[in-house]
Amino acid sequence: MDQHILPAKSITGGLRLPGDKSISHRYALLGAVAEGETTIRNYAPGADCASTLGCLKQLGVGITRRRVATETGEPVEEIVIEGRGEGRGLRGLQAPQAELDAGNSGSTMRMLSGLLAGHPFRSVLTGDQSLRRRPMKRIIEPLERMGAKIAAREGNFPPLQIDGGPLRAIDYRLPVASAQVKSAVLLAGLLAEGETTVEEPVATRDHTEIALAQFGAAMVRKHRRTSVQGRCRLQGQKLVVPGDISSAAFFICAALMFPSSNLYLQDVGLNPTRTALLDLLCSMGAEAKVLNLGEVAGELVGDIHVSGGSLRGGCIEGEMVASLIDEIPVLAVLGTQTEEGLIVRNAEELRLKESDRIATVAENLRRMGASVQEHPDGLEIAGRQQLQGAVLDSFGDHRIAMAFAVAALAAHGESILRGSDAAVVSYPNFFEQLEKVVER
Ligand code: S3P
Repeated sequence: MDQHILPAKSITGGLRLPGDKSISHRYALLGAVAEGETTIRNYAPGADCASTLGCLKQLGVGITRRRVATETGEPVEEIVIEGRGEGRGLRGLQAPQAELDAGNSGSTMRMLSGLLAGHPFRSVLTGDQSLRRRPMKRIIEPLERMGAKIAAREGNFPPLQIDGGPLRAIDYRLPVASAQVKSAVLLAGLLAEGETTVEEPVATRDHTEIALAQFGAAMVRKHRRTSVQGRCRLQGQKLVVPGDISSAAFFICAALMFPSSNLYLQDVGLNPTRTALLDLLCSMGAEAKVLNLGEVAGELVGDIHVSGGSLRGGCIEGEMVASLIDEIPVLAVLGTQTEEGLIVRNAEELRLKESDRIATVAENLRRMGASVQEHPDGLEIAGRQQLQGAVLDSFGDHRIAMAFAVAALAAHGESILRGSDAAVVSYPNFFEQLEKVVER
């Protein structure tokens, strides 16, 4: 689908973001192996989290949606994940009758593989064209060490055929900084005999660790090492997912492109492993404030107020990369509107996302007449650039679609964004929400 986008003068108003995608996946996966019912409000509405629910249903998990009234009388929808019988929780998944389709979702494929590795049946996990090109060796290797048998195309790419069974605990140091891989091993660890430990080279999002504690798993966290006791019992929970800060990033960066912007975002997840975006922007001179900070199910949540103003340049490198990985496309766009531009280094992982995000960001920026240098592990983007309206492409990647919808707002003239519907993966009503806060 094409989206025609006109330039804007400012971003002004208030918004609530859809539920956090990373947290939603984890709540659904843990709810599926917990004892007792789990209810989840503000579950992420995108196609990725629907893929997780779809796969879980094929694995025999009862999942329904219902509308309930909140304390204020306002109706909200919640996902209800059936309670498993006492003692059955952790091994309660049933053999699927057909292939499990993870769609575009790397999180679904990698994290669900952790649970499937410990179930005594064969399952085949597949996905769309983009997912079938993404590397899976990073989960295959530790899960095979734990005792699962996993066949993949060229030993690395989906479809994955998983023959699960009894698992042994491992002590595993992640070779790549990846929260998905860390989570796959910890979820498998729940089904293993003994205590499984994962150590990460760099801190990545810790929603799995927080959710495991919330569901009552026996676990210990020490610095970058997390250990989980196999065969402990998980208890169903009543959960509310905070707004997605990675979705908020598109609005925050859009607001920062215009001096007269004034944007208020409510109930955003502010887990410290996800807020590097705000730290970086503030170090560049942004006016971004956090208000009403609170905690829900172990996750920090608050409001964000952003005012427009001019930004210096910035540099994303080293340990920062992992905690900004999903925000780099829109930060690259914002970089063109700063005084000194943006440098991104050590970010080769970007090439392994829903698209090769170094290449797709550079290509779209060039189409807008911007000067950008592409490197194997990053980008160099000059500041103070006037973008030109252009025919842009999402390359089937939700974050590229939304990042370049933002870029189009700062351009001279109209842009046409091809494949804009890719945004459904994490943010189905992104374009309507954007129109609500754009002033022209
Ligand atoms: C995610 C982790 C990151 C991120 C992805 C969501 C998660 O991927 O890019 O959008 O929910 O754990 P990697 O673990 O591959 O870095």
